[in-house]
Amino acid sequence: MHTLRQDGAHHRAWGDTDVLELSCAAPGVLRIRLAAGARDAYMTYPHLPPKVSAMLAPNRPAPLPLTPGTAQPGEWCLTGGGLSVTVTQATGHIRVQELHDDGTPGRTLAELHDWTTTPDPVRRRTAALHAPPAHSYLGFGQKVGPLDKRGMHLTFWNTDCFPHHLDTDPMHLTVPFTTVLTPQGQAHGLFMDESWRSEIDVARRDPTRLTLTSAGQELDLYVLQGPTPQGVLRRYADLTGHAPLPPLWSLGAGQSRWGYKSADEIRSIIAAYREHDLPLDSVYLDIDYMDAYKVWTWDNSRYPDPAALVKEAREAGVHLVPIVDPGVKAEPGYDVYASGTAADHMVRTARGDVLLGEVWPDPAAFPDFTRPPVQDWWADLHKRFTDLGITGQWNDMNEPANFSLRGTPSTLGITGFNVGQQYTEGKTLPYDARHGNRTHLEMHNVYANGMAEAARTGYARHAPAVRPFILTRAGAAGIQRSAAVWTGDNASRWSHLQLSLPMLMGLGLSGIPFSAPDVGGFDLDSSGELLARWYQAALGYAFLRNHASNFTAYQEPWRFGEPYLSVIREALQMRYRLLPHLYTLTHQATTGALPPLRPLALHHPQDPQARTEASSYLLGEGLLVAPVLHANTAQRQVYLPGTDRWTETFNLSAFGDTHDGQRSVTAHAALNTLPIYLRAGHAVPLTDTAPHTTHARWERLSWLAHAGPDGLQGTLYEDDGEGHGPHRLTRLWAERSGTRLVIGRQEEGDLPRTVRTEQLHLTGLDAVTDVQGARSHRFEDGLLRVTLPEGWTEISILTGER
Ligand code: NOJ
Repeated sequence: MHTLRQDGAHHRAWGDTDVLELSCAAPGVLRIRLAAGARDAYMTYPHLPPKVSAMLAPNRPAPLPLTPGTAQPGEWCLTGGGLSVTVTQATGHIRVQELHDDGTPGRTLAELHDWTTTPDPVRRRTAALHAPPAHSYLGFGQKVGPLDKRGMHLTFWNTDCFPHHLDTDPMHLTVPFTTVLTPQGQAHGLFMDESWRSEIDVARRDPTRLTLTSAGQELDLYVLQGPTPQGVLRRYADLTGHAPLPPLWSLGAGQSRWGYKSADEIRSIIAAYREHDLPLDSVYLDIDYMDAYKVWTWDNSRYPDPAALVKEAREAGVHLVPIVDPGVKAEPGYDVYASGTAADHMVRTARGDVLLGEVWPDPAAFPDFTRPPVQDWWADLHKRFTDLGITGQWNDMNEPANFSLRGTPSTLGITGFNVGQQYTEGKTLPYDARHGNRTHLEMHNVYANGMAEAARTGYARHAPAVRPFILTRAGAAGIQRSAAVWTGDNASRWSHLQLSLPMLMGLGLSGIPFSAPDVGGFDLDSSGELLARWYQAALGYAFLRNHASNFTAYQEPWRFGEPYLSVIREALQMRYRLLPHLYTLTHQATTGALPPLRPLALHHPQDPQARTEASSYLLGEGLLVAPVLHANTAQRQVYLPGTDRWTETFNLSAFGDTHDGQRSVTAHAALNTLPIYLRAGHAVPLTDTAPHTTHARWERLSWLAHAGPDGLQGTLYEDDGEGHGPHRLTRLWAERSGTRLVIGRQEEGDLPRTVRTEQLHLTGLDAVTDVQGARSHRFEDGLLRVTLPEGWTEISILTGER
């Protein structure tokens, strides 16, 4: 590199062929655009062309200035946003460091060397980062395997993998973002803003290197400062977008099956849920509802009156959630195909014809969701749902999946298409298919983002009063702005129950707070025991949907008889009791980016055992859920992280033994038992179970609380459960002073106060001599039960301790 120039907030360095652009995207976020071989790639050399990223959030703040820092001879140094970046001119090596308050450099966050070009068309640009030993690499989107992805070679090319296995890669989602943890528990992040097909070798080929590869012209990297994993996640969400708040009903129980035959069968499913006294909030409609798989149509013989069905379901407390596939049947006279092709909205072949494939309609054309006019057209099609009262949908096959390239013009009676000539990787479109003037190789991974964004626009336009629930299978970084994610076609196997937890944790650490697998497993037949344990494990999933394939046995909770039905009922009721806490965590995820279901590592990064734990999870900071994940097992080991104590509250009912942190304990968990632990210093709000959700203004509330040495804290978010109306945030706090524990409540927000029955169930006190300010109280076997008076703000517990 021989020249460095400032261009506004960007600093551009270049040599004879390569260009490097540095900027500070936000406080603690450094952007490094590496364009090796830029002289050949860009007519604009030594300038880099402006970039429009589908992954980054729109309307981000302007970059911060970088100013020259202290450099050694032969180096350039720039500082800004609390970071410094040093470039060695001779080698192009780059070092990013934190800056101490006095401006001196501190911890090194990233060291980059060997960024170069290769002749391989799908691996055109590569760069190697130093991967210090014992650093863990968490995240990377939807991936199988342990939490720490060190030692794996990952490919980013959204793929319809049916079914997935314990070693499947790539899967449906592309999130080239990792949170790096040092052995001391300090965190920083690395994000590669490339929609192009890419690969990351996480210290597999060379244990000292993380190697990034992209099929694009450059590598656009962001280094995100920590020092906590929460800090990294927040910066990442500021960059790629925060998730919007889903409606409360989406947290309730969902039932789905590929192969429900008719509106009558949907009615019978809802009725059976009610007969068996099982909570239910949603039923999903798979491709069977459509007329010949034509998206945005209904099969009138099997679904004669969709509006009536939607209304009837709603009266039973159930939302219908139809599937939407991108493939548009290429059929003369079908209005969606006609309007889409007339407006030139479809993906084209390299030769310029409308590309035709097969998925499920045959032949099918693919709307090019990467272009705004196409999103606009698709958004308006959602009026066909909103007119029926539908407020949720699931976008499937949106990698996009494509079973085969199809047909000949003469057999189909349609003119103007051609089978793609070029290479196709996985069941999708060829690399050289055209999205306007961009190739599928570049746009494939962000295809689903455009489709989900269109759905969000559609609901905002045609049902502005509701908060829609949009679910997606595929996506790329930033998908959280538009949709929750389900993890695709798993199988009814214990191994898939087990892998669901690290996979969801990995998604949560990739900025996607709302994700869940098909409960019970999609492929293969489930068993009563597996289904029951799966419902227990799902206590903290962001949403809970039992879904199974057409080719498997029916999987609804009552299909397996007793004792499984009762165990599933209790698991569902437990989830409904926990909704005040789950909804509060859901809201927190939309503002602070922490997922509701969290790996222990997120709050205990300095605890080596917590860092690798993925068979149990935290729900917020205070609740630890340790489901049984193996067949024929009535006990398991549970690691309790951190130095605080944890008390057993199995099935969220009674309190049991209390244990010190930083040790493993044995949990005895017969089939009807879900081991749960409450951390000292934390309170969690619960309500009564219900057949379905209504609103999140809890009229019956009970705080499950564990007093710590310094008191306790709890949070409750409330609103109408859908819509954009007022909300209220309640904070519970407690302070000890001598033998007195004062517990108080603070509220903020514009939601009028709810008249409610409120209780406190408190453990962690050895003695209670009196409670002042309560309506009544009882202290028995270490448990204090307090009935709180209407409108209370403070109670005082005299403990007789200390
Ligand atoms: C694939 C999806 O992953 C699955 O959930 C769905 O049932 C089938 N497509 C049929 O629509």
